[in-house]
Amino acid sequence: MSQPTAPLISIKDLHKTYVRGSEHIHAVDGITLDIQEKEYIAFVGPSGSGKTTLLHLLGCLDNPTSGELKVAERTVYSEKAAMNERDLTKLRRELYGYVFQKFYLIPTLTVEENILLPFAFYCKPDAHKNAQHLADLLGISHRLNHLPKELSGGEMQRVAIARALINKPQILLADEPTGNLDSKRSAEISDIFSKLNQEEGLTIILVTHNPAMAKSAGRMVELRDGKLV
Ligand SMILES: Nc1ncnc2c1ncn2[C@@H]1O[C@H](COP(=O)(O)OP(=O)(O)O)[C@@H](O)[C@H]1O
Ligand SMILES: [Mg+2]
Repeated sequence: MSQPTAPLISIKDLHKTYVRGSEHIHAVDGITLDIQEKEYIAFVGPSGSGKTTLLHLLGCLDNPTSGELKVAERTVYSEKAAMNERDLTKLRRELYGYVFQKFYLIPTLTVEENILLPFAFYCKPDAHKNAQHLADLLGISHRLNHLPKELSGGEMQRVAIARALINKPQILLADEPTGNLDSKRSAEISDIFSKLNQEEGLTIILVTHNPAMAKSAGRMVELRDGKLV
């Protein structure tokens, strides 16, 4: 039986070093951190401090250079072993939803088709019902038959969030989701994230430059030069 208190994600002395010519860039430079189930954590810090790199490592989108990464009590990466690509793909699609600053909607598909897009690759039972629930929750039910170009930026991001959640992930990863939005739309997205965390029990890992949104998270963590401040 699993321990109920075990962190959902655990990293120990994690490093990611990029090599550019003769230069070594320590984008993530020895970070140790636990993220609990149902936690809402926000990473802040100046541009180039390693936020995106860390988010990609926490989301199993990229391999660390060294250290340890455990997700749902499974070792994704350690000095001794690294999870193979097939298991990584499975872990990503079962546990994670991803949202980025750019919305990445398919312009020729309607809102509903965009939300349902992940079904083309992987379909959890019950997920079809989830589409309507999410559209209601995110306030885009009346937009389902529209094309992305007919939506405001805030609506586009809400569609991208619905798409990320269609297969009911346990963890939502978001890299500056309000980066392209004005303050009013940003506040709406911030409220949605709080609601998803508090009412749906979603674990949220956020990178943001938006101070109000960072404050609404349960925990704010600051990065500088690849290290926790
Ligand atoms: N693919 C890459 N190759 C080389 N250097 C990179 C790469 N991605 C990021 N970096 C460098 O790593 C550092 C951290 O970048 P990043 O994680 O994007 O920071 P942030 O998201 O906080 O702006 C920066 O110095 C950046 O230039
Ligand atoms: Mg970034």
